[in-house]
Amino acid sequence: MPINIGILGLGTVGCGVVKVLQQNAKDIQTRTNCELQIKAILDRDLDRERDVSGDYLLTDQSEEVLHDPDIDIIVEVMGGIEPARTFILEALEHGKNVVTANKDLIALHGHELLEAADAAGKDLCFEASVGGGIPIIAALKDSLAANHITEVLGIINGTTNYILTAMAEQGREYAEVLAEAQQLGYAEANPSSDVDGLDAARKLAILASIAFNSRVALKDVFVEGISKITREDLAYAAELGCTIKLLAIAKHHSEGIEVRVHPAILPLNHPLASVSGVFNAIYVVGDAVGETMFYGRGAGSLPTGSAIVSDIMRIVRNIQTKSTPSSNCTCYLDLPIKAASD
Ligand code: NAP
Ligand code: HSE
Repeated sequence: MPINIGILGLGTVGCGVVKVLQQNAKDIQTRTNCELQIKAILDRDLDRERDVSGDYLLTDQSEEVLHDPDIDIIVEVMGGIEPARTFILEALEHGKNVVTANKDLIALHGHELLEAADAAGKDLCFEASVGGGIPIIAALKDSLAANHITEVLGIINGTTNYILTAMAEQGREYAEVLAEAQQLGYAEANPSSDVDGLDAARKLAILASIAFNSRVALKDVFVEGISKITREDLAYAAELGCTIKLLAIAKHHSEGIEVRVHPAILPLNHPLASVSGVFNAIYVVGDAVGETMFYGRGAGSLPTGSAIVSDIMRIVRNIQTKSTPSSNCTCYLDLPIKAASD
């Protein structure tokens, strides 16, 4: 019996999911011992030309996807808070597992959605919400779970890193490079989320919550974006043997948690200084493992599709073993938030 998938949103990421499922269908089938089939895709613009084709129902009626009893897994890649939140709750109520790439939603309503998934006995996976194709959520939740994590630090927004790299290395204009990042599908629907640092702050709240087993809210994160950084700033930094990067920093101090996103001057020999273009890098320090570094494409259609399809495959394995997903909500520690320091 195939496992049927419904996709909400056929934009940059939705198309990436379809492509990964199609181009790697054989490998995916071998690894899951199961055929995965796209049954229906919801999008409000059914006429737009897209670089994907397939034998699925394309609809603008949400019930045709969310209420279809044959659909096992819903992939939410529409973005935004509403109706994405309501659709995910509705999908869980209708007995479907859910995969989302929506960091805005997870950062703001993650707890509510994870509780709803637990109540429904279903999975809610969000690997693609942070770091594009980098498996950082799985690393923090599973592979590094034996550690007391003290620090998560990195570059977690592809658009701003793409802009800063092009301004520093090619002396290009901010507005021109931002338009290119939008064209390439890296930027958010509202790119001010990227350049004002909010996208990185949402991702940092998600990472810090998992890493420190705590509840770090978006409002706890100090945020400053890159919109005030000029080509001259980057040229001065280069004269000093440095560059400027938008860093996301989360630290677990004995007095509490510190979370901040802001541009920082880095010496060119710093490991994060050479992370260029759309690439992201995340450095994690655990008491047992020591220092670890995760690196890869932080945005774009196929890298994000890779993370989503891996979540789908994780869910398929749970469906096959008929195992109730382990709780989506862990017991949270109530750790204080500390004011940002140097
Ligand atoms: P996108 O290209 O704008 O695609 C979203 C698609 O969903 C668009 O076709 C949009 O239609 C449609 N849509 C939005 N609201 C809808 C609604 N209420 N009903 C029906 N269709 C609706 O966005 P994206 O870049 O694929 O991003 C999707 C999600 O993935 C976002 O949460 C984003 O933050 C996240 N994400 C993106 C990336 C990336 O590299 N792009 C990486 C990681 C995570 P319109 O075009 O008409 O609005
Ligand atoms: N706009 C986001 C970025 C997409 O540039 O990193 C990936 O989350």
